[in-house]
Amino acid sequence: MQDWAGYGAIVTGGASGLGAATAARLAADGLKITIFDRNADLAAEHAKAIGGAFAPVDVSDPASVASGIDIACAAHGTPRVLINCAGIGGAAKTVSRGVAHDPGLFERTIRVNLMGSFNCASQIAARMVAADPVGADGARGVIVNTASVAAFDGQVGQLAYAASKGGIVSMTLPMARDLADKGVRVCAVAPGLFLTPLLHELPEEVQVSLGEQVPFPSRLGDPAEFGALVSHITQNPMLNGEVIRLDGAIRMAPR
Ligand SMILES: NC(=O)c1ccc[n+]([C@@H]2O[C@H](COP(=O)([O-])OP(=O)(O)OC[C@H]3O[C@@H](n4cnc5c(N)ncnc54)[C@H](O)[C@@H]3O)[C@@H](O)[C@H]2O)c1
Repeated sequence: MQDWAGYGAIVTGGASGLGAATAARLAADGLKITIFDRNADLAAEHAKAIGGAFAPVDVSDPASVASGIDIACAAHGTPRVLINCAGIGGAAKTVSRGVAHDPGLFERTIRVNLMGSFNCASQIAARMVAADPVGADGARGVIVNTASVAAFDGQVGQLAYAASKGGIVSMTLPMARDLADKGVRVCAVAPGLFLTPLLHELPEEVQVSLGEQVPFPSRLGDPAEFGALVSHITQNPMLNGEVIRLDGAIRMAPR
């Protein structure tokens, strides 16, 4: 197994939800975390709690990502692990009351979720491939992107979100192939329903009802369970080019 303890890791969206749980888990694994998040206050607070650093980054802006990478490298050296968790939701139908889907909303969703993952992965991979190999297989780094089950079973109103996550799914194998000869692995996780601040805001009975739709276990996922899978992916050298559903066997209904 690959042990990245002592090396730098970047977790985007690491101020909240799945990213925050993953940052905490990787810090417990001994990695030196830099959180990239546009919510600087929350990122600073969580970074302090887990003994890491943070950079105020908007992942949709390539220049902002570049400055964040400089901050991460100055704090912890070349990052060997990148976890892309930054993302936004947003719901709108293709046509609603006769009006076409707002192209601005579609573009914004693609820009943050898909381009944001691409911006961080491509720029950080450029640093990884220039670094010395670490460990027996000549590994130089690991990238984990966060898709969603919406990439496969997008619901009514999830047009833009599902398209952005479908792009992340499709990007995984070619990115793994592109970086294979440099020893950088790339995987994606497609979560089902997890109890993050997004879902915390829903009334208790709605949370319970959503959880009951999961075949087994019939509950919402704990972000720590997402962090545990990401931690395993970083360590298992044979996991590469794969998208893993983490969803208790749920297949989302049309609505
Ligand atoms: N919670 C779920 O059930 C679930 C299910 C499937 C997929 N996901 C995906 O997991 C990821 C994390 O979701 P979450 O539920 O933890 O959400 P969250 O809202 O709790 O966390 C998202 C974080 O991303 C940050 N962020 C948003 N836009 C950004 C930008 N442009 N630049 C930098 N940071 C930005 C936010 O500030 C926030 O800290 C998202 O990509 C989401 O689509 C979540």
